[in-house]
Amino acid sequence: MSEEKKPELSRRQFLKSVGAAAAVATVGGAAGLHKGHPETVGSPASVTPQGVGERTVSLNVNGEVHRLLLEPRMTLLDAIRDRLGLTGSKRVCDRGTCGACTVYLDGKPIYACLKLAVDCEGHKVETVESLAPDGKLNAVQQAFVNHDSLQCGFCTPGFVMCVNHLLKTNKSPSLADIKNACSGNVCRCGTYTRIFEAAESAAKAMREGA
Ligand code: FES
Ligand code: FES
Repeated sequence: MSEEKKPELSRRQFLKSVGAAAAVATVGGAAGLHKGHPETVGSPASVTPQGVGERTVSLNVNGEVHRLLLEPRMTLLDAIRDRLGLTGSKRVCDRGTCGACTVYLDGKPIYACLKLAVDCEGHKVETVESLAPDGKLNAVQQAFVNHDSLQCGFCTPGFVMCVNHLLKTNKSPSLADIKNACSGNVCRCGTYTRIFEAAESAAKAMREGA
């Protein structure tokens, strides 16, 4: 008696059957997850994203009010550099450690990379460009030039803003005052000595009415 021959599975049929089995396993596996499992909570179809999308924000920068369409997650630094084209403030660390992005918010130095643009509505923002509105350098900027207080220059706008802020309230700062005012700024090129010289020189020039 001859053995009954099993029908052979073609390569195409084999692949089809494996694919179907895999699909069943995947769907079944997901459905079988515990309700508290992260993969079962908030499936894409049921999630309503919050805070996504652009909105109109009014920013007062250097005395001009700009109405910008931007995402709530955009930092003040990105808004002033990329939307307003004010590139004096530098994006170096982008995480609040170097001070290259320093601007004034209501007259006080802040890290623009750590501030959301939407949170600046109703406040006054000033960038380093505001120090030389007509292209004429102010006393602090001129002192940095005179003392050759920079190498790559990426840190310079931040130091200028901090020194300038100090000299508004302290006309005769000590070296310790200057170092303290610049303590939130980093110069990777190591030009600190010349930055401090420039600050002392600017203070003197301002006292003398320059
Ligand atoms: S870029 Fe903002 S602190 Fe460095
Ligand atoms: S001059 Fe290069 S980081 Fe200060």
